[in-house]
Amino acid sequence: MTASAEQRAEELRNVLNQHNHRYYVLHDPIISDAEFDRLYEELQVLEARYPDLITLDSPTQRTGSDLSPAFAKVRHDRPILSLAKAFDANELYAWEERNRKLEPNASFRYTVEPKYDGLSIVLRYEDGLLVQAATRGNGEIGDVITHNARTLPTIPLRIPVANGGGAAPAVLVVRGEVLFLKEAFKALNRARVAADLPLYANARNTASGSLKQKDASKTAERDLTAFVYDVLIVEGRAFPSRYDQLTYVRELGFLAPAEAILCADMDSVIERLAWWSDNRDGLPFEIDGVVIKLDDLPAAERLGVVGKDPRAVIAYKFPSSEETTTLLDVQHQVGRSGRITPTAVLDPVFVGGVTITHASLHNYEQIAALDIRLGDTVIVKRSGDVIPYVTGPVVSARTGEERIVGLPQQCPVSGDALVRPPGMVDIYCPNALCPERIFRGVVFFASRGGMNIEGLGPQTLQLLIQEGLLKDEADLFTLSMEQLESLEGFGEKKARGLLASLEEVKSRPPEQLLTSLGIPGIGETVAKLLIKAFPDLNELRHVAERLAELEGTVAAIVPRVTREALEIAMRYARVKDPAAGIQRALSPEFEACTEDEQQALLDDMTRLQEHVAPLYDLEGVGPTLVRQIVSWFSDAGNGVLLDKLRAAGLQLQREPAAQTVGALNGLSFVLTGTLPTLSRAEAKALIEKHGGSVKSSVSKKTHYVVAGGNPGSKATKAKALEIPVITEEELRALT
Ligand code: IVH
Repeated sequence: MTASAEQRAEELRNVLNQHNHRYYVLHDPIISDAEFDRLYEELQVLEARYPDLITLDSPTQRTGSDLSPAFAKVRHDRPILSLAKAFDANELYAWEERNRKLEPNASFRYTVEPKYDGLSIVLRYEDGLLVQAATRGNGEIGDVITHNARTLPTIPLRIPVANGGGAAPAVLVVRGEVLFLKEAFKALNRARVAADLPLYANARNTASGSLKQKDASKTAERDLTAFVYDVLIVEGRAFPSRYDQLTYVRELGFLAPAEAILCADMDSVIERLAWWSDNRDGLPFEIDGVVIKLDDLPAAERLGVVGKDPRAVIAYKFPSSEETTTLLDVQHQVGRSGRITPTAVLDPVFVGGVTITHASLHNYEQIAALDIRLGDTVIVKRSGDVIPYVTGPVVSARTGEERIVGLPQQCPVSGDALVRPPGMVDIYCPNALCPERIFRGVVFFASRGGMNIEGLGPQTLQLLIQEGLLKDEADLFTLSMEQLESLEGFGEKKARGLLASLEEVKSRPPEQLLTSLGIPGIGETVAKLLIKAFPDLNELRHVAERLAELEGTVAAIVPRVTREALEIAMRYARVKDPAAGIQRALSPEFEACTEDEQQALLDDMTRLQEHVAPLYDLEGVGPTLVRQIVSWFSDAGNGVLLDKLRAAGLQLQREPAAQTVGALNGLSFVLTGTLPTLSRAEAKALIEKHGGSVKSSVSKKTHYVVAGGNPGSKATKAKALEIPVITEEELRALT
């Protein structure tokens, strides 16, 4: 190889990458396509002759290779967050108010950007060179798709692309979105028609499929575009402003949102929203909303994250799209909890980019209230990723042939008579052994979002249920080799494989187990929170059982509050005079009670408040969630399930942390009343940090009761058992 060949190759790479940038990012080419092709070919010839000259940032490498290995996984340096949503101006003002309370001194200016309807990508550059591209994955771990990303002309292989972009930082990690421009997607479908292939309905899914090809040359065939809107890591620089960050990535050579503007306050953000909805159709890409970002980045950093959503960023979602079609039938589906949900079977209709054949009808009360009839022309709505739903009938289109939707009397699967629990709108199949209930439960349990059990798909599960081998999730773990081998389609090898993966699943952490049980309201975030507060699920169960019991005793005196005592207890948990509030809430029944009954009621309500505190005090846990948790964990059948899971060897308990040598090692505490400076969660954390544990009720095994203002019955009980009652200050002195 000659020095001049090396030099020429480098020149060509630079020139080509710059023209590429001008063409795809700036839309301002300064040479003809033919001229570009000539230079490109020259580089190809050189590289063919001297393969050593091929560098990772050579534009010839964008064509991809069919040798790409299956995807490796990568743990993201920072969690790849999602966004909270707002649907109108009021919600945006409320969002600002919440943030203002937390960061009163921040500057409330906003960067307003399109919300691209594509898929998230994370790009890592080291010393200017693209070294890794990954999908969002689950936010913590993504698929490595570097070879595919290299085929996108809008993703620079080396930054800065143009001279004048400044020097490359040692490390730069950016986040963006990959999508089809509207024109590109149309062109793809035109080509499909020509080749007599089925059309792609959804641009977003097609983009996702295209990016996740094993063979990068397939990705290269797709005309994908990448926009970059966020800097996750940049070494040697700190940005005071979001908007400046966009300018920076643009200067480096990325395609940044050109329509982004900086708004001086929320009023001008809201003004700008109208512009977006007016111009939405004219944009070259699909958007499903607008992203509003606090421009003050240091304040944004301090505001932090709730669940998976940063507090400083919000997505304003456009009102969803609607179409009309005919309601052909109503199916009655049985969920895991036994709840029957009506599902509309529709004459296929194209709404917001996809063809819909089924839609949610919410519940039977709603069907009656909206008077939706079979054969009706109905309005179908779809917003973003949400399941499409029927909003109502077009009454003027009726012919008189429409028929009332009857309430099902029997479970469509098990045949059991359906029930409607008092005070609830939904109807249920009461049979916990209903095959459909079991099926729904175990499918979720085994799925990727659940325990992720390899080799256990819906078909196998259906088979196991049919054979009577599976009545709940726990039964999976007592399956034997003989039982599996006797199943249709199972040989020794397959049976062995399944047993091995079931064995492996037993060591999954308790928060994953909790998520997999599909308890209403308990997803990944809440599960983590609960396990942190209740390292053993049995503790949570005891709290829930006690709460349900107390609620029962209150309801026995005031029947109206059958399902309300807990809510009342929570509503008045943090007020000055809880007793007065509770009396008001239980009025007029309260006044009608004898004095003894009144005292008993107040005592029970106070106990409810004490027992619910460890749950209700958790950040992000509100009354609805508490209600759902209590209902599930106090249910006897679910208790049996938990016992079976534990007996089968699953982890219902967090592994004890490496033995901490703390001042409170082995000591058991109970908290009661309002402590002067610590919240309950903080007091618990303090005790645990020093090796102690916190229990919810006083027993002979309790070492200390820590009491604050308005201590409840726990302090009394402690005195009776001669257990020392100490103050917060005394607790601190112990640590
Ligand atoms: S910002 C902390 N900006 O929308 C920053 N996201 O529904 C979090 N998205 O997962 C993301 N356009 O994939 C941001 N201009 C934009 C966006 C955007 C599209 C996606 C992103 C995110 C999803 C949340």
